[in-house]
Amino acid sequence: MKKRLLINGEWVEAKNYETLYSPYNGEPIAEIPVATVEEVNQAIEAAYQARGIMAKMPAHQRARILEKLALLLEQRADEAAQIIALEAAKPITTAKGEVARTVQTYKFAAEEAKRIHGETLPLDAAPGGEGRVAYTVREPVGVVGAITPFNFPMNLVAHKVGPAIASGNTIVLKPATQTPLSSFFIAELLQEAGLPAGALNVVTGSGSVAGERIVTDHRVQVITFTGSPTVGIGIRNKAGLKRVTLELGSNSAVIVDKGVNIDKIISRCVTGAFAFQGQVCISLQRVYVHEEAYDEFVEKFVEATNKLQIGDPLNPATDLSALISPKDVKRSLDWIEEAKQQGAKVAAGGTVEGNILRPTVLLDVDPTLKVSCQEVFALIVLINKIKTIDEAIELVNDSRYGLQAGIYTENIHVALDAAEKLHVGGVMINDIPTFRVDHMPYGGVKESGFGREGLKYAIEEMTELKLVVFNRN
Ligand code: SIN
Repeated sequence: MKKRLLINGEWVEAKNYETLYSPYNGEPIAEIPVATVEEVNQAIEAAYQARGIMAKMPAHQRARILEKLALLLEQRADEAAQIIALEAAKPITTAKGEVARTVQTYKFAAEEAKRIHGETLPLDAAPGGEGRVAYTVREPVGVVGAITPFNFPMNLVAHKVGPAIASGNTIVLKPATQTPLSSFFIAELLQEAGLPAGALNVVTGSGSVAGERIVTDHRVQVITFTGSPTVGIGIRNKAGLKRVTLELGSNSAVIVDKGVNIDKIISRCVTGAFAFQGQVCISLQRVYVHEEAYDEFVEKFVEATNKLQIGDPLNPATDLSALISPKDVKRSLDWIEEAKQQGAKVAAGGTVEGNILRPTVLLDVDPTLKVSCQEVFALIVLINKIKTIDEAIELVNDSRYGLQAGIYTENIHVALDAAEKLHVGGVMINDIPTFRVDHMPYGGVKESGFGREGLKYAIEEMTELKLVVFNRN
């Protein structure tokens, strides 16, 4: 299957191609364009030329295109999930969940398209402001450059394409090299939904060519990126005066207080740690359990972990499959080995079956080890014992990252205290840090990035506030 670039509403054969392989069994899946600088330039120019059409399109029409997209995706949900499972090795049940979320994200985008507004301002609050009427409006920035990751190839694209269309912008989208098929699929549906030519352009290829061109081109006004901190920081440095939204990594943690019903939270914590092989920015990587609950928690967590089924992502019985690349399997094993050398205990996993890393539970892990202080993005979780909640909060905060954190407690004072002290973008009380629904503000502090997603918030990042002052004197 040979794919094409989408430029100015046309599916264009590219000059160069590379083969896309299944992360699960290494078999070829498709031939993917590797866009040249010239091809990326054409895509940017198409988006630039189409910006006037999108800016003038009434809100109800933008909303209708997004509603239609949601409907078409709902109708073809099984096909969409197969694409995600195939290219990302995401277990099919999890992939179906992602498609359902993507439908929801586009529906939220459609709703938000109809409520983008400014406010009126009492200018007479300042001497000299008398007799004036002032209001603000939100205008589209023009061209949005969207660079998306492999881990949610449909829904994280929706978090960029949805708000961009809702707010009347055009887009140049560069999906992850590992998972371009989901983006091509959505682009086809958007064409069917009536999006004008040039409003969405899809270029695939390397970050150093396509990504770099998008980030540095003066015609692109906003960059929205989800991916690794290293790449995100590079983008920030190159983007000049462009507005940049960065959703980067994390080593997210949950705190478990004494007195919590462990049976009630185990399956949720196991899901948080291992869903989609731990390749989620808010995956549960560090668990800090009060000493009174520690032994019970570890025993039940390990028992539940050992029941997870590993295998073919297309098999509905599979819970976990391959990591996105053999390189990541090797890195995970190296980090586990380092932890073992430094005295951590392996309570589950730690080995590879075929090309799949078994879900790994580590105990007594020093905070300076890579499995603790870096983002593992793999099937590894650590469980450490704590004496006090304050000690746990300090451990959670002792991180380069700060995306989301969770705390399970029966004590309202402990909960509110943690909400205040945890230095992260979102605190989940009585839940794992992995909780996300798609309209909530989502983003981090420190090296987890800045700016917020969640349709309403992303629209703020993709629009300019304009002030209008009417002098009636
Ligand atoms: C992410 O990995 O940043 C996205 C997590 C999610 O949308 O659930």
